[in-house]
Amino acid sequence: MKPNCDAPSSKLQAPEKLPKSKFSRCLQSLSIGECPRPVPPHPNPLPQGEGAASSSLLRKVSGLIPCETGKRFSLSPRERAGVRGESACASQRAWTQSEIRSFKFLRSFELGAWCLFLTLTLIAAQGCRTKQTESQAARTETPASGNEAESRAAFLAAYPVFMHPRCMNCHPKGDQPLQGEDSHVHFQNVQRGPDGKGLFAMKCANCHQLKNLAGENMPPGHTEWHLPPANMRMVFEGKTPTELARQLKDPKQNGGKTPDQIVRHVAEDSLVATAWNPGACRTKPPMTQQEAGRKLLEWVGNGAAIP
Ligand code: HEC
Ligand code: HEC
Repeated sequence: MKPNCDAPSSKLQAPEKLPKSKFSRCLQSLSIGECPRPVPPHPNPLPQGEGAASSSLLRKVSGLIPCETGKRFSLSPRERAGVRGESACASQRAWTQSEIRSFKFLRSFELGAWCLFLTLTLIAAQGCRTKQTESQAARTETPASGNEAESRAAFLAAYPVFMHPRCMNCHPKGDQPLQGEDSHVHFQNVQRGPDGKGLFAMKCANCHQLKNLAGENMPPGHTEWHLPPANMRMVFEGKTPTELARQLKDPKQNGGKTPDQIVRHVAEDSLVATAWNPGACRTKPPMTQQEAGRKLLEWVGNGAAIP
């Protein structure tokens, strides 16, 4: 038996049991110092011919250690030459080198595979990121146009509220209020008057009380029930979205209000609120006062674009 060569395979696999990092460090550096000895302690001196009979597996493992076998012999170089022959060492050296090379190759192959994997992963990630940045760019680009588009869209969403009879009947193009779902001219020749509160005996407050009067075709009520004044008529009737948006933005046409005040007016004003408390048998605007206010806020917040 050759205890050194026919060492149990479990022992031969020792290097593979090493923590990967150390083993690969050993492989990378290919230096003996860092490589743990794969073989059990060696009988000293070796029986003759032992070296040559090393199992290929052992050689494979100890091949990691370039011609290190020399160190395992206490024989003189000459004796060793007799036992193994310089050529044996040389051949082993050559074999070892080729093994190293193949290890190197395998290692580089493995590295290559990892590199390929990493590259593909990176490419995929990059692709994702490119897509992301593209969509981000699209998003950051759109704000200029996108916010403007959002702004316009918000105004267009709120527009039907302004055009609803509940609002439009108090914002007519003529000097008479309107009535009903069809926005016909107010009966009894009621006029705006300079302050919007009626002319002569036909003052709004004569018939429009502080509160809605109960019953169909009864006048709705509010403490300030009146039209905009003659010098600031704030017409909604017949206005396109573009015209209405311009008017609402223009302090000379909107009663000197800032855009924020317009938003507030629509969202909170109690006279505006009468549209949602219209009295019996009258329809309400297509969205709540809060929603209308929010739409106008979106419109103003995104730059109050003219649709
Ligand atoms: C003589 C009484 C009278 C006077 C004055 C009067 N109204 Fe009216 N008004 C009514 C009545 C009644 C109705 C309800 C008509 C109906 O629903 O058929 C009404 C309806 C309205 C409506 C329609 C409400 C809606 O939502 O459709 C508006 C707007 C309105 N009046 C504004 C005014 C304004 C502004 C003035 C003053 C400039 C005024 N009215 C003066 C009696 C009057
Ligand atoms: C009873 C009549 C009446 C009704 C109903 C009414 N308004 Fe007005 N609105 C006025 C008067 C009067 C003014 C001007 C005085 C003021 O600022 O309160 C005005 C002003 C405005 C303004 C201010 C600026 C401008 O440029 O026009 C807005 C906006 C407005 N109304 C929106 C609405 C909306 C939206 C509705 C319906 C949801 C509505 N109003 C319903 C009477 C009315």
